[in-house]
Amino acid sequence: MEDQIRRLLILYGSQTGTAQDVAERLSREAKRMHFTVRVVALDSYQVVNLINESVVVFVCATTGQGDPPDNMKTFWQFILRKNLPTNSLCYVHFAVLGLGDSSYQKFNFIAKKLNRRLQQLGAQPLLTVGLADDQHDLGADAVVFPWTENLWKKLLQMYPLPPGVEIINDNVRPPSKYRIKVVDKNHSLTFKPNGTSSTHNSVHITPDQGNSFYARLISNERVTASDHFQDVRLVRLDISGSNIRYSPGDVVMIQPQNMDDTVQDFISHLGINPDEAVTLEQNDPEIPLPDLPQPCTMHYIVENYLDINCTPRRSFFEMLAYFADNELEKEKLQEFCSTEGQEELYSYCNRVKRTILEVLQDFPNTSANLPLNYLFDLIPRLQPRAFSIASSQQVFSNEIQILMAVVHYKTKLYKPRKGVCSTWLSSQDPVTNVRIPIWVRKGTIHFPTDPKTPVIMVGPGTGCAPFRSFIQERTASSIGGNMLFFGCRNKSKDFFCEVEWSPLIDKQLLALYTAFSRDQEEKVYVQHQILRNSRLVWEALDSNGGWFLIAGNAKRMPDDVRDALKEVIIKEGGKTEVEAELYIRQLDQAKRYQAETWS
Ligand code: 2AM
Repeated sequence: MEDQIRRLLILYGSQTGTAQDVAERLSREAKRMHFTVRVVALDSYQVVNLINESVVVFVCATTGQGDPPDNMKTFWQFILRKNLPTNSLCYVHFAVLGLGDSSYQKFNFIAKKLNRRLQQLGAQPLLTVGLADDQHDLGADAVVFPWTENLWKKLLQMYPLPPGVEIINDNVRPPSKYRIKVVDKNHSLTFKPNGTSSTHNSVHITPDQGNSFYARLISNERVTASDHFQDVRLVRLDISGSNIRYSPGDVVMIQPQNMDDTVQDFISHLGINPDEAVTLEQNDPEIPLPDLPQPCTMHYIVENYLDINCTPRRSFFEMLAYFADNELEKEKLQEFCSTEGQEELYSYCNRVKRTILEVLQDFPNTSANLPLNYLFDLIPRLQPRAFSIASSQQVFSNEIQILMAVVHYKTKLYKPRKGVCSTWLSSQDPVTNVRIPIWVRKGTIHFPTDPKTPVIMVGPGTGCAPFRSFIQERTASSIGGNMLFFGCRNKSKDFFCEVEWSPLIDKQLLALYTAFSRDQEEKVYVQHQILRNSRLVWEALDSNGGWFLIAGNAKRMPDDVRDALKEVIIKEGGKTEVEAELYIRQLDQAKRYQAETWS
C-alpha cells in the first residue's frame, strides 16, 4: 500500500537533452527517498492515464518561438484540446519545471502555459512553476536546484518516509542504466552508419529520429570567398528513394558523428577496445534501450552516440564523483557538486565551453576507474542539429539543400572550438559516396498559400535559407510579391546566392534590398534598409495584406528589425507608438509576423 501511494511520475519534454537530464536526475533523487518512480518522455506516455496518477512532475523546455520540444508535440495538442472535462485531473498533484532562455521573447512559454492548463483541468499544484533561464550567470541550475529542494521538502511532507526507513546517502552509487556485454573481442564487421546498406532507405516510411534516411552528399561547396572570416557551405543532399516531402519553412535534422581525432582521444584515454562488439541490456525495465544496432562496436558507440564534445552538466560531475578515489580529484568533484561550488564549476566548464573529453582528461585517475557500464549514464546522446531547408522540392524534387556556417570560435581562456556537426559535414568528401543520416520536421516559419499575398522577408546571413526555399518555389510558378532584405559583411565576400537572385530581379519576381555592413565606414544593416524603404514596406504590409517574416541569428537582429518595423508603422501609417505596437501584435496573432531565430 505504501508503495502505491509513494509513487511518482516524471514526464519530460526535451529538445536538446537538458530537460531529460534534469528529469533523470530527479528520478535518481526520488529513488534515494524510496519513491517508486518512472521517467518518461511526454510523447511516450499514454496521456489518458494521467487521471490515474497521484503525483506528476513535468520538466519541459521551450524551443524557438514558444514551441514545445519534438517529443511532447502530441501531448501538447492533446492537453490543449478544448473538450477536455474541467475537473478531469482533480486527483492529480503536479509540479512544472520549465527550462528556457530569456533572450527569446516567449521565455518558458510552454511551462507557464502547461502550469495554467493543468490547473484548469483541476490538477493541484505542489509549488509554483519553476522558470529556469539559460541566460542566468550560473545557467539553468540557479533555478533548478532550489526548485527541486522545495519539491522534495513538499513531497516528503505529503509522503513521509515509512518508519525506520532513511534516505539513501548520495555517496551510494545508483545502478547504471544499461549493462554493456562484450560479445566479441575483435569484431570483424565494421559498422558503417554511412554505408549504403541501411534497410531504412528502401522502406516506405517517413524518416524520423531513430529511423533516419541516409542521404547521399552531392556537394558541400563553399559560398563565401576563401579569404572571408566565415566558411559558409551550400550543402546538397540527395533524397531520391526516400519518402521525404517538405515545404518551404521546414527544417532538416542532421545526425552528426564525432570527429575522428576526438573519438580516438576518448577511446585511448579510457582504454576502450574500439573493436569490441557489444550488446546492451536493460538494468531497469522502465528505461528503454537506446536505438543502436545490436551488436555494435565500441567505436561505433563513441563515434555516433556519445556526445563526448558537449559541455558537461552538473549531473555528469555528480556521477563522476562516484568513481573518484584519488583524494585531490574527489575533493574537486565534490566541490563542483556543492551549492557553494557553482560559480567555480561554471567558470571551469561553461564559460570556456570545456568538453566532456577534456574534463575526463583533467581527472585521469577517476577516468581510469570508470566502468564501461556507466558510459550511458555519464554522457548524453549526440544530438541531431536542425537546419532551415534552403531549397524548394518543387524545383529540386530529389534534393534538400542547406546553407551551413562552419562553426569555429575561440573562448576567452581556452583553445579554439569547432562545431561538431558543421565541422564533420564540411569535411566530408562527396566523391567517397558518403551518407548523411537525416529526417525532416516542420519549422516554425509558415508561408502564405495565396499567391497574391506579398511577403516581406528579412534574412541576413544564413537567415536567408528558408526564404531561398520559398522564393524558389514561388518564382518557379512566376509568382511575384517577394521582398527580400538580405545583409552580409561585404558584397564581394559573403553575398551568397547573388547569381540566383539577379535573374529573378530582372523578371520582377523579386525585390532585393541588400545591406553590406562593412563595405563602408558606417554600419548598414537590414533594419536600415527597411527604414529607407518604409513606403514600400508599409504598402505591401497594410494595403496588400502582406506578411513580415524574419530569420537568422538570435542575438539583437530580430529585436532591432521589430523596432524598425514599428518605426515604419508610425511614420507611414501615422500611428502612435502604442498603436504601432498593437499593430505588430495583431500581425503576430494572425501569423503574419513571424520570426525564426537560432544561435
Ligand atoms: P556585422 O558583422 O558587420 O556587425 C550577417 O551576419 C550580417 O548581419 C552581417 O553583415 C552583420 O554585420 C549583420 N548584423 C550584426 N548585428 C546585427 C543586428 N543587430 N541587426 C542586423 N544585422 C546585424
